[in-house]
Amino acid sequence: MKKDFLSIADWSGKELMDILKISKAMKANPKKFGKSLIGKSVALIFEKPSLRTHVTFEIGAKQLGLHTTYLTSADISLGKRESVYDVSKNLERWVDGVVIRTFGQKNVDSMAQFGSFSVINALTDYEHPCQAVGDFLTILEHLKTFKGKKFAWIGDGNNVCHSLMLFAAKVGMNFTAAVPADHKPDPAVVLRAQAEARKTGAVIELVHDPAAGAANADVVYTDVWVSMGQEAERETKMKSFNGFQVNAELMKHANPKAIFLHCLPAHRGEEVTDEVIDSPQSAVFDEAENRLHTQKAILYTLLKAQGRGKIHTHRSRR
Ligand code: CP
Ligand code: NVA
Repeated sequence: MKKDFLSIADWSGKELMDILKISKAMKANPKKFGKSLIGKSVALIFEKPSLRTHVTFEIGAKQLGLHTTYLTSADISLGKRESVYDVSKNLERWVDGVVIRTFGQKNVDSMAQFGSFSVINALTDYEHPCQAVGDFLTILEHLKTFKGKKFAWIGDGNNVCHSLMLFAAKVGMNFTAAVPADHKPDPAVVLRAQAEARKTGAVIELVHDPAAGAANADVVYTDVWVSMGQEAERETKMKSFNGFQVNAELMKHANPKAIFLHCLPAHRGEEVTDEVIDSPQSAVFDEAENRLHTQKAILYTLLKAQGRGKIHTHRSRR
């Protein structure tokens, strides 16, 4: 049984499908799971802003009977006020889980290494695995299957792109990322996804033409061009993404029954137009709702079966 949810790369296609199965059961019958984690506690650490992830984790945790405590960088500025190691060794005396949104993936990985609690990655600069689980539940609800379907990512090869590409590869969905040449996903993620795809029969590819990316797609997905923490790069990034807007013209290249997804927040008029995000093809608020059900399933999967490791009272694990 896995202790942490840090990266989609760590979970098999079967394990991810099991989380989707629990998510569906939770969505259909939330009362059945009510209070199933009573007596346990989670810390929610957010070093970046959040609407969806914060609200859905806090409400979802409470629906399962968990006690939550919310911390920002004003409380624990990781690595500045206190080391990640010391924060972890304190938290493991009080909580069973840590949901953390931070900058470097290393912070999340280190916390999982140092602490006996379960760690859930609520977004780093490198990945947003919880987003991917919510999105693939939404895709399953709308398309009924992943096999033989095409996912088109249009825009930045960023954290959300990484998690979605890995997820698609693991569950056998074809994934094309249409990205500018100077904003490609990390080659290590692409190679990993392509290796997984060889096992599931999916095709994972990169293109630089948005129309080619969207061609015959069943899912068209975009995200902001300037992610949290990249504000200083705004001017240069805006130039790179010229032509990458998802608008009605671009949607014409996709399957007429394609759905449009966006993790949100959206910068309307930049990466997506109102006519697309407000169209009948848009499922962005289904996606937002599914964050709740899928994150409850992640908490349940990790904490229900949790056998807390021994708390080390010396510093040998550092
Ligand atoms: N999609 C998403 O993670 O939204 P927030 O940044 O508002 O949590
Ligand atoms: N790529 C975006 C996702 C926000 C949910 C960011 O990191 O800001």
